[in-house]
Amino acid sequence: MVKSSHLALSAALAVAAIATDVSVPNHLPTRQLLQDAYAYSLEPVWTQDYISSNLTRNLMNVIADITGKPPTFRVGGNTGDQTYYHPELNISAVALPNTTVTNTFNISNAWFEQWGSYFPQGTDFLYTLNLKDNSSAWANAVQEAAAAYSVLGDKLKLFELGNEIDHFINKGWRPSTWDVAMYIQQWRNISDQIVHSSWYEAADQPPKFQAAVFADPPWVPDQQDEIDDFDIINLTRAGLTEHDKVGSYAVHLYPQSTCDTTRWYRLSLDLLSNHSVLWRNVSQYVPQVVAADKAGIPLVFGETNSASCSGRSGISDTFGAALWNVDYVLLAASIGMPKVYFHLGANAEYSSFVPLPYQHKNESLSAGIRSLFYGHYFTAHVLAADTQQRIAQIPSANTSDFSGYAIYSSGHHHRHSEDLNKLVFIDLQVWNGTQGLSNPSTLSTTDSTSHSAGQRPVREVSISTSWKQGTCLAITRLQAPGTNAKSEISVSGVSFESQTGKQVGEIQKEQVVVGKNGQVCFVMQAAEAVLIERK
Ligand SMILES: *[C@@H]1O[C@H](CO)[C@@H](O)[C@H](O)[C@H]1NC(C)=O
Ligand SMILES: *[C@@H]1O[C@H](CO)[C@@H](O)[C@H](O)[C@H]1NC(C)=O
Ligand SMILES: *[C@@H]1O[C@H](CO)[C@@H](O)[C@H](O)[C@H]1NC(C)=O
Ligand SMILES: *[C@@H]1O[C@H](CO)[C@@H](O)[C@H](O)[C@H]1NC(C)=O
Ligand SMILES: *[C@@H]1O[C@H](CO)[C@@H](O)[C@H](O)[C@H]1NC(C)=O
Ligand SMILES: *[C@@H]1O[C@H](CO)[C@@H](O)[C@H](O)[C@H]1NC(C)=O
Ligand SMILES: *[C@@H]1O[C@H](CO)[C@@H](O)[C@H](O)[C@H]1NC(C)=O
Ligand SMILES: *[C@@H]1O[C@H](CO)[C@@H](O)[C@H](O)[C@H]1NC(C)=O
Ligand SMILES: *[C@@H]1O[C@H](CO)[C@@H](O)[C@H](O)[C@H]1NC(C)=O
Ligand SMILES: *[C@@H]1O[C@H](CO)[C@@H](O)[C@H](O)[C@H]1NC(C)=O
Ligand SMILES: *[C@@H]1O[C@H](CO)[C@@H](O)[C@H](O)[C@H]1NC(C)=O
Ligand SMILES: *[C@@H]1O[C@H](CO)[C@@H](O)[C@H](O)[C@H]1NC(C)=O
Repeated sequence: MVKSSHLALSAALAVAAIATDVSVPNHLPTRQLLQDAYAYSLEPVWTQDYISSNLTRNLMNVIADITGKPPTFRVGGNTGDQTYYHPELNISAVALPNTTVTNTFNISNAWFEQWGSYFPQGTDFLYTLNLKDNSSAWANAVQEAAAAYSVLGDKLKLFELGNEIDHFINKGWRPSTWDVAMYIQQWRNISDQIVHSSWYEAADQPPKFQAAVFADPPWVPDQQDEIDDFDIINLTRAGLTEHDKVGSYAVHLYPQSTCDTTRWYRLSLDLLSNHSVLWRNVSQYVPQVVAADKAGIPLVFGETNSASCSGRSGISDTFGAALWNVDYVLLAASIGMPKVYFHLGANAEYSSFVPLPYQHKNESLSAGIRSLFYGHYFTAHVLAADTQQRIAQIPSANTSDFSGYAIYSSGHHHRHSEDLNKLVFIDLQVWNGTQGLSNPSTLSTTDSTSHSAGQRPVREVSISTSWKQGTCLAITRLQAPGTNAKSEISVSGVSFESQTGKQVGEIQKEQVVVGKNGQVCFVMQAAEAVLIERK
């Protein structure tokens, strides 16, 4: 149980210290923790921007060097259903009327070649086909599939058929009778045409399909665009469970939104930096996971970020968002959603990094790296492992401002206590500092002017573990001057040059030794994440 008491750590400094006792019981229920649990989703129209500088590749290489596998890229999103294959195009791709406002995106083989060859070796791709255009029995989607595979080959692991298909009635793309039954019929029609193509039959490891791709959160009516029956429970009950075709199911989650006035007024950094809120947002998928488990097919967060409709600078690009994304990926994994794809757009306020200088809301902004990438870099150290890891939420580290996970090195369901390999703790108290408030790659008008009063609190954590007394542990920290910081973020001394992604510094791990009865004690600041691992 968490025992919290306020006491003065040092009379001279009068720093408020919170004493937190955590216990890591044996036999916690665990789920798989993939080395590439953290993935990206890239809006098709912005692909060319992301590969126009070396920043994206350099950052992905940084991650691959730690986890052993570069992050998966989904090339998909809204513009996936506006994409048309035009092999005769005299340029690689064209967004009409432009990339900011797009109703048609025409592509050729050269477009697949450009991004297919850009990313680090070993990058897996997912590509979203146009489900919207149903003319000639989806001839366009079927041609896109053949073209994508002809260029990408085995790098192409999954297709999606349409993006956020539960919004199709609202967008006027399907009649009001559009439902799970009709979706499955159309899904089978297109996927059958694809799997019966000669290129597919000849392929050694042909791509499977990521089905569903639903947007509306099950438990939040005001974020649902209309009443429909699209969810994983209904989809699997209706029979879309064929293992030879369905590699995974996807749902999208954006906890907050800038899409409409009501939700615009609800946007808040404090709401993002709150583990109880995250739990409410993520736990609504627990029944969906049960349905996916029953089908024996994993459910993933196929597109996500802090706030829909491109995010909100001042929230999406702060250190609070970095702590959120660490907590989010680990919480998702621990409820059985093994992969989370963070959406990218070249001028989106939530992007983890932006590849090129750009104009946005009357400001001239630079290419650069935002806080979320530091969250990814820290998470990469959690995901890195020689053997398959498993993860569990720690029940006694589960309050609105404190979250914890236990990670086991054995891939087996039946773990032994000695398999406890890592612990992660995230302090989500909002501490607004006075440094690192701006970042030339994001809007300056949203730089924080809120500063917390007094000294930054510290938390004295005492954990009882199954580790043997005398075991040496290493601590890695994700830190920043405050929840409101947009820069000066680091992971145990490592930062990245914002224009190039070049690593500056080396990880300086601290050491701690396990005490009597498996006791581990350390101190962390308000608004900080720590990784503790066996050396
Ligand atoms: C980008 O990377 C390529 C290939 O590694 C290299 O040849 C080129 O010099 C780099 N460009 C910049 C601007 O660093
Ligand atoms: C490509 O073709 C279009 C007409 O379809 C033409 O307007 C344009 O100038 C051509 N672009 C190039 C680079 O040749
Ligand atoms: C993109 O097209 C829209 C609609 O035609 C227009 O309002 C907008 O100014 C264009 N944006 C750019 C950057 O050209
Ligand atoms: C883009 O694709 C649409 C749909 O196939 C087509 O009508 C249009 O002519 C194309 N435009 C260009 C510039 O390729
Ligand atoms: C194709 O889409 C149109 C709307 O664009 C819709 O009216 C029609 O019913 C759809 N056909 C099928 C088979 O879904
Ligand atoms: C797909 O649907 C079209 C009608 O839209 C039909 O002509 C065709 O036979 C169907 N193909 C398959 C493989 O189901
Ligand atoms: C599943 O479908 C039924 C109608 O068949 C509907 O009443 C129910 O709300 C759907 N479930 C969800 C969670 O949408
Ligand atoms: C996430 O939780 C917050 C707080 O309860 C709520 O306002 C928001 O609507 C939730 N978002 C989603 C998508 O569940
Ligand atoms: C965090 O969210 C919970 C649930 O919505 C709320 O009760 C609590 O007051 C929030 N904590 C802070 C510090 O805002
Ligand atoms: C950009 O500047 C124009 C002209 O000064 C102004 O009308 C507009 O509101 C500004 N837009 C934003 C997002 O600040
Ligand atoms: C974490 O707390 C939530 C309530 O906020 C609870 O529903 C959930 O079961 C708790 N998780 C664990 C692992 O104890
Ligand atoms: C922290 O700063 C943000 C603005 O940057 C503000 O919205 C939030 O309310 C502040 N929170 C606290 C607890 O000071």
